[in-house]
Amino acid sequence: LKTERDQQRTIMLVTAEHYRDTLTRKPEGAAARSYLQEREVDPETSAAYGLGFASERRDTLIQLLKAKELPLELAEQLGIIRKGERGWYDLLHNRLIFPIRDKQGQPIGFAGRVLDSSLPKYINSPESPLYRKSSVLFGVDLALRDIRQSGTAIIVEGYFDHLALYRAGIRNALATCGTALTDGHIGLLKKHAQRVCLLFDGDNAGRKATVRAMELCLEQALPVYVINLPQGEDPDSLLQKHGVEAFNQQVAAAKPAFEQFLHWLLAKTPADSIDQRVRLMDEIIPRFQRIKDPVERDLYLKEICRLLGIDPPSFRRRLAGQRSEQK
Ligand code: UTP
Ligand code: MN
Ligand code: MN
Ligand code: MN
Ligand code: MN
Repeated sequence: LKTERDQQRTIMLVTAEHYRDTLTRKPEGAAARSYLQEREVDPETSAAYGLGFASERRDTLIQLLKAKELPLELAEQLGIIRKGERGWYDLLHNRLIFPIRDKQGQPIGFAGRVLDSSLPKYINSPESPLYRKSSVLFGVDLALRDIRQSGTAIIVEGYFDHLALYRAGIRNALATCGTALTDGHIGLLKKHAQRVCLLFDGDNAGRKATVRAMELCLEQALPVYVINLPQGEDPDSLLQKHGVEAFNQQVAAAKPAFEQFLHWLLAKTPADSIDQRVRLMDEIIPRFQRIKDPVERDLYLKEICRLLGIDPPSFRRRLAGQRSEQK
């Protein structure tokens, strides 16, 4: 007798195979095949990720599940089909499919990307009994071995970034896929990596996500580095434009996240007037307080004071003041 969980697993497997088959073998998959070609995703990479295509029709999964006598209600719980006024329909259609897989490589959710510039660019499976977003990172099945070996987990934003790194032979990456990094993710990372290296997009959203992720890592004493991408680039676009060599130079130039944070902050607000220095201190202190290692704290304290042109005793006084205010 099959348990409900077994059936859910089967539904996800059957669905992933169906999407995969449409991409690789069906006439409906032709547009997606040429899209992948344009983006320089070769068939081996496509196979490693189990990429697929959801065709134009909105009842293909429904038909498939019915034919295999798999309960639609379970598929609905998994977020791959929905029930509307006119009956059941597939969540994803006319989209390139990225299976989201667990450590064992079992599909637990799907993301679908449009083949043109229409919006929304991606539609993602919702949370489900199999897919707990706060503890899953994309690519974990492909990356865990290299993360353990190197001690480093590189974190990127997007599916295509993960693919691009994989193709370039960088196999220790994980992708957040649009969700903010959570404590659950940090827990997972701490289990397998000695340090993380944040490689988010070179835009405001990417930098904001970097600072937030840095805060979580500092809080949990997980050493954290940043690769700072040029404005407007993401790892995929940079690799496409400048190749692996240039990219590896960026990787080699990874800075401790807190150092990069100070750098960004001072580039935005120069420490010219007294007013600005005070404001900078107030931006810095809440993050500084998350640094656990006493030696690191001491070194950063000196660096901050040098950058802001203040003396350490006044910085310490302001630190103490903020602590007592918080009480
Ligand atoms: P980006 O907008 O940077 O997309 O979003 P991208 O990954 O570079 O995609 P391409 O190169 O244009 O194909 C980063 C990530 O945020 C999530 C996806 O996981 C995406 O990879 N996202 C983005 C969504 O979930 N929904 C969206 O509509 C957009
Ligand atoms: Mn982005
Ligand atoms: Mn973007
Ligand atoms: Mn991007
Ligand atoms: Mn991109």
